[in-house]
Formats: sequence, structure tokens, C-alpha cells
Amino acid sequence: TLTLDFSKPGVRVSPTLYGLMTEEINYSYDGGLYGELVRNRAFLDDAQRPAHWTAVGDKSSVSLERTGPTAARPVALRVGGGVANDGYWGIPVKPRSTYRLSVWAKTDGRGPISASIESENGATVYAKADLEGADGTWRNLTATLKTSRDVPTTAAARLVLRTGTARTLWLSQVSLFPPTFNGRRNGNRIDLVEKLLDMRPKFLRFPGGNYLEGNTLQDKFPWRDTLGPIEGRPGHKSPWGYRSTDGMGLLEFLLWCEEIKSKPVLAVYAGYALNGDVIKPGTLLRPFVQDALDEIEYVIGGPETKWGAQRIKDGHPKPFPLECVEVGNEDGFDKTGSYEGRFVQFYDAIKAKYPKLRVISTTGGKDWLGQKFPLTQRKPDLVDEHYYSEAWDMMALATKYDDYDRSGPKVFVGEWAAFDTVAPWVGGARTGPTSNLRCAIADAAFLTGVERNSDIVAMSCYAPLFVNVNPGGRQWAINLIGYDALNSFGAPSYYAQTMFGQNIGDRTVATTLTGVPEQRSGDRKLPGLFASATRDTRNGTLFVKVVNALPTSQELAFDLKGAQIASDGTLTVLTGDPKDVNTLAEPAKIAPQTTKLNGLSSSFRRTFPANSVSVLRLRTK
Ligand code: AHR
Repeated sequence: TLTLDFSKPGVRVSPTLYGLMTEEINYSYDGGLYGELVRNRAFLDDAQRPAHWTAVGDKSSVSLERTGPTAARPVALRVGGGVANDGYWGIPVKPRSTYRLSVWAKTDGRGPISASIESENGATVYAKADLEGADGTWRNLTATLKTSRDVPTTAAARLVLRTGTARTLWLSQVSLFPPTFNGRRNGNRIDLVEKLLDMRPKFLRFPGGNYLEGNTLQDKFPWRDTLGPIEGRPGHKSPWGYRSTDGMGLLEFLLWCEEIKSKPVLAVYAGYALNGDVIKPGTLLRPFVQDALDEIEYVIGGPETKWGAQRIKDGHPKPFPLECVEVGNEDGFDKTGSYEGRFVQFYDAIKAKYPKLRVISTTGGKDWLGQKFPLTQRKPDLVDEHYYSEAWDMMALATKYDDYDRSGPKVFVGEWAAFDTVAPWVGGARTGPTSNLRCAIADAAFLTGVERNSDIVAMSCYAPLFVNVNPGGRQWAINLIGYDALNSFGAPSYYAQTMFGQNIGDRTVATTLTGVPEQRSGDRKLPGLFASATRDTRNGTLFVKVVNALPTSQELAFDLKGAQIASDGTLTVLTGDPKDVNTLAEPAKIAPQTTKLNGLSSSFRRTFPANSVSVLRLRTK
């Protein structure tokens, strides 16, 4: 029996309960969300060779020179004849599409440089254009390339530039963009933004994760260098094994938040690098604190401020709706235990300048990492807890927050995901690249606990968000949304979270499950069913989530105390084989199905399939 007791007050559901976490991992931006199609566009990925660029035809030649035009673009590609770029596992070609090409180039002659998007062997040209105006001076040349309605949809394509009448061509940056979401320049891939919009995220935590910190003190996310025209951005070394173009810079993160109707949760660098190096609290940390204040000023400062004025100059007069700032990331890994001192310094400076901002700490929580260094000198507004847990353990975490200390900071579950058997940081190619249904069931079970306790859990976001599924495209095994150059799909976990994000009220309804069969693993026991319920107090909609982790279907008797429901509603169910995954070939193998319900009353029965996540949407009268 599932009892829903409306006579109890329930708790206010945090309006920011479900959001997203993002960082550059698994080619999330370069080769992912960020629309750029040219790989190694500034020839900085490899100092020895022009990676992803090849000479076209027997008589052509390509080589790297240190003769680029600026400090941010120190390298030039010298081309005789023609050169091709193979993109991020191909260049996606679609019919009736317009591509924007922007090239920084010079030549030893005059006359146009020819540009084309061609099949991999060059036999078929899908779109072409001339870049006019090249001469012996570095110039920015632009053109649009349009495909006709007859071209195939394929990623087996390359971008080719040819010298034309000149003998030699030098390139310092080559950029090609397909249509982007809302047509934004330097913008995002449409299918991926649409998938995020369907999740109804309330916030976006960025830029990491490990990507905020980098491997060494030199490799932190360099927000200042990510502003302005892309040819001024040097890019930087990311901790996930490849160089970042920083095309997805601070402003682009913020614009992305706008696109998905989310508020930014900005993580500021707090002086800890992944190799264990730390800037000790005190004088040496001061410039880092100032750096964070400047960064916040860029996001919310007015025209009278230096960095607010810079944002306005960059095209965004309105401050962004920043409410939360996170100090560092997973600082429980800092063996020196310096976080408390560093946190105090950042906290005091941020609160002094921006008293309304809520400050998030990365230790002091009740996850395994956070407990190592409790915070005693300042009470953060929120504490970030991370859980990457085997599916069984994730289901066990469903009750974690039921008896959590309510006198401390609120909780931000800033990274979490269930995995099946092999941990995602060691699993590599053996599992993934996205979760299976078993993981999604465990994720959903955990979320019933998050939702039930959303007086204390104010925010939560799964990680990682994105993965490029091509060989070599991933560093983490279990992710939410997979893609190649052309197509994308949501994992079962994506659908489970979309179901939770789309169906949430503003107040919880007390739920009790009785007579529930247990699930067992060795001598461990857990309930086989999990549930939570919320209602929208403005219109009476009731959202009931039921997770059946058992291998048999389960009939539940619903007992609504203190409320009447209308006879109609809907039921959305995600079910299948627990080992099943979605893929590019079968993107909706595990996807929710919605049916209409009729004949409901305040005590009705419903059968929930084996291995399922279900959402009932009902109307209270
Ligand atoms: O999500 C992958 C990594 O897991 C994040 O970068 C880091 O914060 C965590 O350890």
C-alpha cells in the first residue's frame, strides 16, 4: 500500500531542486555542445604536427611554423596546394544547411582561397565557397557554405581549403559553424540544447569539476582568457587529456544558462590543483580571492564596475541571475587540510562584497570526502556532496537525508550517478558510455529521497552530463547524454531525470509504503519499492513517483488520506531489461511511455512493471 497523507503539512520543495552539472570531459564542448566543427582550429593541440590536418593530393604540403600573428595564435599552418580537416570524428553534413566559415589567413599571392565541405575521399563536394581578399597580410576572411536539399546526411566528410592562384597559404585559425541553437554566434549544438530543455533544469553548475582546477596550479579554468573574440583565446590544458579551445568561455557558459532557462551556479577556483599543490591561506591566496571577485563582477557587476563594463562591452548589458557561488571543487582531496582556511578567506570576501550571494563549500558535508574536513569557522549556505555509487549503494542512499542534521547548511548534491558493477573512473571502455536501466532505477530511487527531503537538499545535479561516444571520446564511463557528430541520445538515467524534472510540485506529500517485498544482495537488504510525492499548491496537481527495483511487477493499493482526486490522470513509465542501454542506433530502446488513466478514486490500485520508474500525474479536488 502507498499511503499519501495530505493531513500532514509536508515540506516546501526547493524551487532549485533539479539542475545540471557540466565541465569539459568526454569532449563535452569541443566535439560536443560547442558548435565548432574544425578540430585543432588554431594548431595548438600538438606542437610537433598539425593534428587533424592533412595535405590534399600528392602535390600538397603542410607544416607548422611559429609565425602566427599574436600571442594567442603563435602557430601558423603553412599550406602548399590544399589541406583538409577531419573534424571531431567527422564533419556533419545535412541537407539545406548553412555553415559559417571564418579563417585567419595570408597568402603569397592575390585571389580567392577556395573552401569546400567534401566527402572523405574528395569525390563528392557537398558545399563550397570562395574566401575573397587574401594577400600578404593576416586577415579574417569569411564565407557561408550552403548545402542543397540533395546532399546526404553524413559525418563522413571533411573541410578542405585550397590555395587558389597563390602558391602558399598560411592559416592561424579556421572555424566552421553549423546552424546553432537560436542562431547564436559561437553558439551551441541544437539537438543537445533541446535535450537539456526537456529536463527543465533550474541551474547549471560550471565550469567543474576537475576542469575548474586543472592538473597543476597553472591549469585552472582561465576565465579571463576565455572572453572576447575566439582568435584572442589561447585555450588551455584540461585535466581530461586534451587541450581546450576555450570557445566555451565564461560568457558562453552564461549564455548557455539563458538558453536552457537556468540560473548559473559559478564555481570559483580556490587554490587547489589536482596534483595536490595548494596555495596556502593568507597573503598568497589573496590574488586568487580577488580573481574570484572579479569573475563574479563579470557575471553580475553594473556598468560602473570594471568587469561589469567588460560584460556589457562583450554584448550582455543585463547582469546574469547569479545566486550561488561554489568555492573550489572536492577539496576533501587536499591532503594538507587547508580548505577551511581557504574557504574562510573566500567566504568573507564574497559575503563582504555580495551579501546576498549564497556560498557553497566543498567539504563539511556527509559524503565520504566531505566528512574528512568538517568546517567549524564559517557556516556555508550550502555544502556540496558527491556520490558516485554502485546501483545498490545508490538505492541505499534513498534514505540518507531522512534523518540528516537540519541545523547545518543546506545540501547541494553537486555530482552524483549510479553505476552498474564497474566504477566509472576505472571502467573506461568496459562499461558505458552511458548508464543502463539498472542505474536509472537506482538514480530514481535516490531522487525519491532527495525529493522527500527537499527542505534540506536544496539542489542536485547528475554528472557527467555529456559524452562523445566515438572511440577515444570519453574519459568517464557512465554519462547522461551521448552523441557523435550527427546524432545524440539520452541514457535511461536521462529519461528518469527528465520524468522527475517535468513532474514536480512545490510541497511534498507524506508517503508511506507498507507491505513492500525486500530486495536482497548477499546478506544485504533493501526495500524493493521507493516512492515520493509532491503537489502543486496553485493548481492541485499531484505528482507521485514509484520506483520498482524488483524483477517482478508489483501491484500497489493507493490510499489517499485527506484529499479527493479527479477520475483522470496520466501514467508515465520507464521500463525494460535492467542491462539495456540506449545507443545512437537505438536511441529510445529505454524511453518513457505515457498513458491516460480513467476511473480513479481516492483508493485505487495500479500495477507497476518489473524494473521500472513511474510517474503518476493526478488532479486533487
Ligand atoms: O564527474 C567527473 C569528476 O568526478 C569530476 O570532475 C570531479 O569533480 C569528480 O571527482
